[in-house]
Amino acid sequence: MTATPARKARPTAIDGEATLEFAADVAAGLNATPKRIPPKYFYDTAGSLLFEEITQLPEYYPTRVERGILAENAEAIAALLPTGSALVEFGNGSSAKTRIVLRAAKELSAYVPVDIAAEFLEEQAETLRHEFPSLNVLPVAADFTSAFDLPAKLRTMRRTGFFPGSTIGNFEPTDAAGFLRHAGLSLGKGAVMVVGVDLVKHEAILHAAYNDAADVTARFNLNLLARINRELDGDFDLDSFEHRAFFDRECSRVEMHLVSRADQRVSIGGHSFDFAEGETIHTENSYKYTVESFRALALEAGWRPVEVWTDSDGWFSIHVLANEADTANQPWLRRL
Ligand code: AVI
Repeated sequence: MTATPARKARPTAIDGEATLEFAADVAAGLNATPKRIPPKYFYDTAGSLLFEEITQLPEYYPTRVERGILAENAEAIAALLPTGSALVEFGNGSSAKTRIVLRAAKELSAYVPVDIAAEFLEEQAETLRHEFPSLNVLPVAADFTSAFDLPAKLRTMRRTGFFPGSTIGNFEPTDAAGFLRHAGLSLGKGAVMVVGVDLVKHEAILHAAYNDAADVTARFNLNLLARINRELDGDFDLDSFEHRAFFDRECSRVEMHLVSRADQRVSIGGHSFDFAEGETIHTENSYKYTVESFRALALEAGWRPVEVWTDSDGWFSIHVLANEADTANQPWLRRL
């Protein structure tokens, strides 16, 4: 998943393939009961810009709080990235959080952002090369939710994974465990991983974070329908749907939906889909963990919890995990 815009000059064969996959996922999701669309489709250029706006909202605490925890623990994180090692970020490395880590980790040899949006990834890599001239910036264009190959240059380097932003909360817990397992295979034995995870908290705080007063999150959610209209020849009337987000404590997740305000028929690429008044399209789950529940998930996926940092309110956590395979004799872990 990318949370930043992929800027493309003109359509390519890959764009064509991506559009076909988008069309197939939308058709399958709208024919299912209840209706749903995967959250990865939020992030076209317009959606990525709206997400960027969300991260600056007063109600959306995760970005701000995580940045604070990273800044406070930058030295400890730098200790995970000693001379000659490599930092592999799951995401495109455009965030301020990446820079906090790169600035602290002075002895780092290589920085490897992994993201599916190849062109934007390369643009970000170029910016980082200017900012950090002694760093080898080696972007990998890949879908990091599956296993992928790292650049050969990393073969002899100690590797640390970095997955900030609580993006892991947008995966179903079984997929989150699957992702961690794949990451373990890509990073290799003895690797360490730093993961940002949003925590369970008072419902009012979660509700406000996903129902902001300026309606940016509502526009982010509705952009999914606008994107279907733009890319798949849809005729959604955006005023006929409304944003709904709520915390489901039993499932420990914030759910986002688009609710049909009326009985209506929508056409997408010549196919019809019927909506009853009040029927919803489920567009996103954002799982909230406790420190213990996330540690249990990591353990199940082959990662040993080594350290955790939280803010003073206990709203957000940053976990340091060690690849279970072969960590017994890793002296740098004892320094944590
Ligand atoms: C990207 N992800 C961690 C965000 C979240 O909080 O689950 C996406 C988001 N959805 C609504 N607001 C932000």
